[in-house]
Amino acid sequence: RIVPVILAGGSGTRLWPLSRTLFPKQFLALVDEQSLMQKTLERLDPLACDEPIIICNEDHRFIVAEQLRRCHRRGKIVLEPCGRNTAPAMAVSALFAEDDPLLLVLAADHVIGKPQALVDAIESAIPAAQAGKMVTFGIVPTSPHTGYGYIQRGAAEQGGYQVAQFVEKPNEPTAAAYLADGGYYWNAGIFLVRASQYLRELERYRKDIFDACQLATLAPTQDMDFIRLDAEAFSHCPSESIDYAVMEQTQDALVMPLDAQWNDIGAWSALWEVSAKDEDGNATHGEVMLENCKNSLLRSREKLVVGIGLENLIVVDTPDVLLVADRTQAHQVKHLVETLKAQG
Ligand code: GDD
Ligand code: MG
Repeated sequence: RIVPVILAGGSGTRLWPLSRTLFPKQFLALVDEQSLMQKTLERLDPLACDEPIIICNEDHRFIVAEQLRRCHRRGKIVLEPCGRNTAPAMAVSALFAEDDPLLLVLAADHVIGKPQALVDAIESAIPAAQAGKMVTFGIVPTSPHTGYGYIQRGAAEQGGYQVAQFVEKPNEPTAAAYLADGGYYWNAGIFLVRASQYLRELERYRKDIFDACQLATLAPTQDMDFIRLDAEAFSHCPSESIDYAVMEQTQDALVMPLDAQWNDIGAWSALWEVSAKDEDGNATHGEVMLENCKNSLLRSREKLVVGIGLENLIVVDTPDVLLVADRTQAHQVKHLVETLKAQG
């Protein structure tokens, strides 16, 4: 049995002003009519998994419930009273999963161009996960990106490779060295592991997180499809990602290569890359008119947006904010949002 666990608690600030605290990017329809979370669920259909667990911040419970309903799906919706990053999110999901299934942990905000390739990779990872491996999926890196985990490939094993080393978010020179070396993958942020195996590894390396998650799941309350953690206990849980808490430490990981046109829509430039574009490289959404524009992304929600002679620009119009940015610098929006938040 496989139970998908959809991690949907991120804030996605680099896609501001479309992605907002109250409506982050995983719930937005960025590439077509479905939200990234809906597409994440849909691409699992060929696998015949059990009902998924979707874990998100309690503020987003109605968005999740509504989006599930609209794509005719059901799932357990686990609500976090506060964000404690992915290691605790996966732990409470593992604690709620019945009869120790394999957990297929997925980010809610990735775009996959070739979903069948993902399905094939997951299927070939099942025997290793059943045998007690923490299987991660590896993408051949194309740049020294510092926002990803890097996985050094070891000896071939069970259709994949042993993980010789896992390094989460290395600095730029280190990432460049890994890229040049050729023996490293990017961590796709997708994991297949038996629930009890993850919990065992977490208890071994981060007993503090394990203990807090156990306390937080002792007496859950359920209303409608929502499962609530013990807020007091969860608030005492340390905040850490799966990658730092477990993946960098475990001796039992296997990496399965994944070639599925995977993209972590980390910023506006990445969305431009995966979007359908006209012959001049422009990706538009909503009412947009262009003359002599090249390699730009323009989105409008209400107004008609007209561009003339633009090149490499990101233009995103929303009712209260208009973003105009150079495409290669658009990731800076994250800092601006933090500044805005600090200013209240
Ligand atoms: N429920 C819940 N609670 N989900 C969360 C939380 C949380 O506190 N924090 C993040 N998430 C969700 C995000 O919505 C996203 O779907 C997923 O967990 C991954 O979190 P990110 O914050 O996007 O992680 P990252 O992109 O910096 O790094 C991870 O993904 C990379 C690939 O995209 C790591 O696994 C890297 O190693 C990996 O390369
Ligand atoms: Mg991410």
